[in-house]
Amino acid sequence: MKHEILEKNSILLTVAILVVVAIGGLVEIAPLFWLQSTIEKVKGMRPYSPLELMGRDIYIREGCYVCHSQMIRSLRDEVERYGHYSLAAESMYDHPFQWGSKRTGPDLARVGGKYSDAWHREHMANPRAVVPESIMPGYPFLAKTRLDYGDIADRLKALRIAGVPYTDEQIAKAKADLEAQVRPDSDAAEALLKRYPKAQVRDFDANPKMISELDALIAYLQMLGTLVDFAKFDASGPNLR
Ligand code: HEC
Repeated sequence: MKHEILEKNSILLTVAILVVVAIGGLVEIAPLFWLQSTIEKVKGMRPYSPLELMGRDIYIREGCYVCHSQMIRSLRDEVERYGHYSLAAESMYDHPFQWGSKRTGPDLARVGGKYSDAWHREHMANPRAVVPESIMPGYPFLAKTRLDYGDIADRLKALRIAGVPYTDEQIAKAKADLEAQVRPDSDAAEALLKRYPKAQVRDFDANPKMISELDALIAYLQMLGTLVDFAKFDASGPNLR
């Protein structure tokens, strides 16, 4: 019956609610001030290569996140369909993160390597050409639009301010690295791979005459979820080696 006092006195009730919420907040927030990091580092994660980054920016520009998530939850049906659940570290260089909030289409966190570049080229031009029942819009203009990457170094610099550890060298070579990623067998491609291990180097849009927006977008899609080697990943221990 002591409850009655609270229930009949709105000011007292408000104060009591504030006290309870404050305790809850402290328990959740205070430990974050003592933790070194809330994101466990994982071997393999690296910042995006310049071409992948441009692809990611196109992904954001076109609103792909409105229909696609990039966050595999640790639920059995998701893991069976999409692969290993997403790790916090896999989004650590994403500003803003691309977890999304709705899945009209499938999750894309591990779409890298699932299809060939040719499939992506067809699918982006006209999704119905490869998935007849698809309701995804086509983006045929990407293949025809020259990639505007004059400001690529500035994009890297901006991300560095947000905490992505791009080095001075990576920023200085951003333009060269971007161009190298669509030109296999060049010395520049080797330098790119040193700076961005596991970067995939090839002519993604199959049009050697031009670096298109499609080149960047496919380079981005094909790297999603491919950096961490899950055959060697141990969820129970440190994964720095
Ligand atoms: C209106 C919602 C919508 C938008 C916007 C959209 N998609 Fe999709 N997407 C879908 C649907 C539905 C599917 C499943 C059918 C299919 O494969 O086309 C899909 C499938 C895909 C797939 C194949 C995934 C798989 O595992 O089979 C990729 C890759 C993809 N979309 C990339 C993109 C990109 C990149 C963009 C932005 C340029 C985009 N989508 C925008 C709805 C959308």
